[in-house]
Amino acid sequence: MTTARTTLRFGVFFQGVNFSTIWSDPASGSQIDFESFRRLAQTAERGLFSAFFLGEGLRLREHLGRLHELDVAGRPDAQTQLAALAAVTSRIGLVATQNTTYNDPVDLAHRLASLDLLSGGRAAWNIVTTDNAWTGENFRRGGYLDHADRYRHAESVVNIAKAVWGAFDDDAVATAATAPSWSTPNPSAEVDGATGHYAVRALSRLPRSPQGHPVLFQAGDSPEGRDFAARTADVIFSAHAGFDDAKTFAADIRARTLKAGRPADDLKIFPGQEFILADSDAEAAEKARWVREQQVSPQTALAFIENVWGTDLSAYDPDGPLPTVDPVQDTTGETRGAGFRGAQALATAEKWRALSEAEGLSIRQLVIRLSSGRGFVGSVASVADELERFADEHVVDGFNITPWLVPGGLDDIVDKLVPELQERGVYPTEYAGYTLRENLGLRVPPSAREREAATA
Ligand SMILES: Cc1cc2nc3c(=O)[nH]c(=O)nc-3n(C[C@H](O)[C@H](O)[C@H](O)COP(=O)(O)O)c2cc1C
Repeated sequence: MTTARTTLRFGVFFQGVNFSTIWSDPASGSQIDFESFRRLAQTAERGLFSAFFLGEGLRLREHLGRLHELDVAGRPDAQTQLAALAAVTSRIGLVATQNTTYNDPVDLAHRLASLDLLSGGRAAWNIVTTDNAWTGENFRRGGYLDHADRYRHAESVVNIAKAVWGAFDDDAVATAATAPSWSTPNPSAEVDGATGHYAVRALSRLPRSPQGHPVLFQAGDSPEGRDFAARTADVIFSAHAGFDDAKTFAADIRARTLKAGRPADDLKIFPGQEFILADSDAEAAEKARWVREQQVSPQTALAFIENVWGTDLSAYDPDGPLPTVDPVQDTTGETRGAGFRGAQALATAEKWRALSEAEGLSIRQLVIRLSSGRGFVGSVASVADELERFADEHVVDGFNITPWLVPGGLDDIVDKLVPELQERGVYPTEYAGYTLRENLGLRVPPSAREREAATA
């Protein structure tokens, strides 16, 4: 008897704001045109992807105290965009990244429950706490919460949202056309909650969706963020995609999940990752070089190292050597939003100088070199070999694929890689069901009444 192999699942991460998508390519579409989202989501659904995933920024990004001009700025509101996509897809999950500091939990719970109902149980919330100060300036409460408070607050917000979702009795909605009213007189239990910053007393306005309530993703990598995910989330979206790094991360997350009183594999792990495919490994390596050069423009290269130096380096030639002056900051700030938080600036600069000198690299070549370890690069067979290893050792549950070209960047993955993985038995050959929970292999959370019955 042959036993079924562990299957991997794919999601697609539509970034919107980044330098990894090559918007200058003639084949590239608009980042705000619905056609881009529709084409990408429908291609992903053809490839049996579990999720279409949107990041979010509530304010244009800043760099060195100014607007970051190199970012692609346009980003429609995630829930509006996903509601539109719900109408042109039928199986793929719809994941909205939503911040916990600036959204009020009762309102957010209602909007996410609406997306969940309208999509037939396909909605998810990617819970983020957002690591920059400037976003706070958009909001009347102003300012910003420190790291520990952000997570304490986030957990209260999530618990209130869950309570709102569970508050509506499952059999409260009348099923007979002759019923005197749409629901029983008091369909929702009262939810009393407090976050430390404010208190709420709420009722739910909507019944539960076919999947109970939206799936919870979490993105935040500190020990506090990981423990928060282990206590509350269904899926963790990580930046740990290389095999050894992903393995260490999985061991850490599974230990934290066990400690939180859940089975170790209850929290699914989906790192973000790029795929660069070609007919042969050599062609793929060549293509990857071209992709990196397109991604790292001269201005992007300078902005990248400015994150470490903490000062304007626009007078430097991107095709020349790294600055000999030292960074003006000790550690890279929490507010730069470029993945460098807390790095020792001088030590990083010295490490980069040594690498540049050893390999004869200009500023731009260094930045290309630093980003070139990323991604699966190879022929379809080679990438499938690597993915098999991830599946067989259960290092991840899936990958959130970041296309470097929008909207055509999933075509070769869906048309070539997915069939190869299916052939090898490490990728689903059909959707398990209609809801995101079914397609991710997650349990439906019990309703308030079921929870009460279980504890009675
Ligand atoms: C993989 C990943 C994706 C993220 N995506 C977003 C996002 O789309 N919007 C956002 O505001 N923050 C995003 N964040 C930032 C987190 O919300 C969080 O503020 C940040 O990681 C700092 O928390 P930490 O110290 O726990 O990592 C992301 C973080 C990670 C690790």
